[in-house]
Amino acid sequence: MRVPLLDLGEQYHALAEPIRAELSEVLASQCFILGPKVAAFEEAIRKYCGAPHAIGVSSGTDALMAILMALEIGPGDTVITSAYTFFATGGGIARVGATPVFVDIDPETYNISPAALERYLTDSCRRGGDGFLREPQGKIVRAIVPVHLFGLCCQMDAIHRISERFQLMVIEDAAQAIGAECPFGGATGRAGAMSEVGYFSFYPSKNLGAAGDAGMVTCHDETLAQRLRACRQHGMEPRYYHHFIGGNFRLDEIQAAILKVKLPFLDDWSAARRRAADFYREEFKRLDLTSQLSLPAEPYRDRELTNHHIYHQYVIRTPQRDALRAHLTRKEIGTAIYYPLGLHQQKCFAYLGYHAGDFPETERAARETLALPMYPELSHQAQRYVVETIAEFFSPRRGAFQTARP
Ligand SMILES: Cc1ncc(COP(=O)(O)O)c(C=O)c1O
Repeated sequence: MRVPLLDLGEQYHALAEPIRAELSEVLASQCFILGPKVAAFEEAIRKYCGAPHAIGVSSGTDALMAILMALEIGPGDTVITSAYTFFATGGGIARVGATPVFVDIDPETYNISPAALERYLTDSCRRGGDGFLREPQGKIVRAIVPVHLFGLCCQMDAIHRISERFQLMVIEDAAQAIGAECPFGGATGRAGAMSEVGYFSFYPSKNLGAAGDAGMVTCHDETLAQRLRACRQHGMEPRYYHHFIGGNFRLDEIQAAILKVKLPFLDDWSAARRRAADFYREEFKRLDLTSQLSLPAEPYRDRELTNHHIYHQYVIRTPQRDALRAHLTRKEIGTAIYYPLGLHQQKCFAYLGYHAGDFPETERAARETLALPMYPELSHQAQRYVVETIAEFFSPRRGAFQTARP
């Protein structure tokens, strides 16, 4: 049996008609950039996320670029983020000329560790006479970018307590977590809307995926929203008057039209992913594998939050990761490693002077984690095959098809 890591076909076929109708409308209008479809999708996201402003942009990567440029973060500044994230988070910080500072993760959730963040700020940074918080080389610490990895929100209450203590801005990287919720300020917080500014990616494989690249910035402040709107068009407002340097970070009508058709289904898709995660857990327990593997943590499960996890990825961990992955590949089961290196160990960041061993939990996660097939339409039969194939790896004599079924 072949089980891909992700299969988007069924989702597309179910929505092919309304998507084609929307595409025809865009083509007939000949309006391709920042038109009514983008405005409608921005409004839909604004409501969905509970953020006062939503600004459509060309990708998650460009969303972070636009945010950093709009905030005038650049040379002489540092921005703190997780060492264990997709490259774009650290890359964006470096591309505006700022210095990325990495912090280790919580081993259970793979998200930035609030304790490690506070330790770095307390032990390594000092507030100067000019009122700026500076890191050891004298650069100004401007912001924290917590990343809600794999669809699970960071501990945002703790992060905001720290950001308030050190007077730092929080930029939420919600690229993998649209709709995800966590306890926040005594109520429920939604990814991307708990901080001054946040951003999403609609890369095709995301829970809400475009037919190409697309992204969104969400923010609370009207002035920042205006600046971001200008920033996505080369800092231009009005036409051909440039107040500052931005970029071409525009969202196009075709992507917005498709995303708007898909958005009403997002919560059902995320619920289906959660049910698939529950089924994986049951199967791993049934086959007695929970002592050999760590399953994803669900720290907000009992808090009566609907989207306590949106399972953008279903990630297990085992010290035998590479051999397990080879076994699954032989059995035609798709897997992925998110991510094989911490950002501090990427060649392009060697100039930052980090060393192996600096972030032990990030490095252990990079050695041990493995993403298994996960998508809303994943069948129980496919999941059983995945788990039984994993069982076969851990006790070969048992054999995948000799295991008892309920
Ligand atoms: C955590 C994280 N941040 C940023 C991005 C960048 O988004 P995009 O691929 O849309 O540029 C991604 C995309 O995968 C991501 O996973």
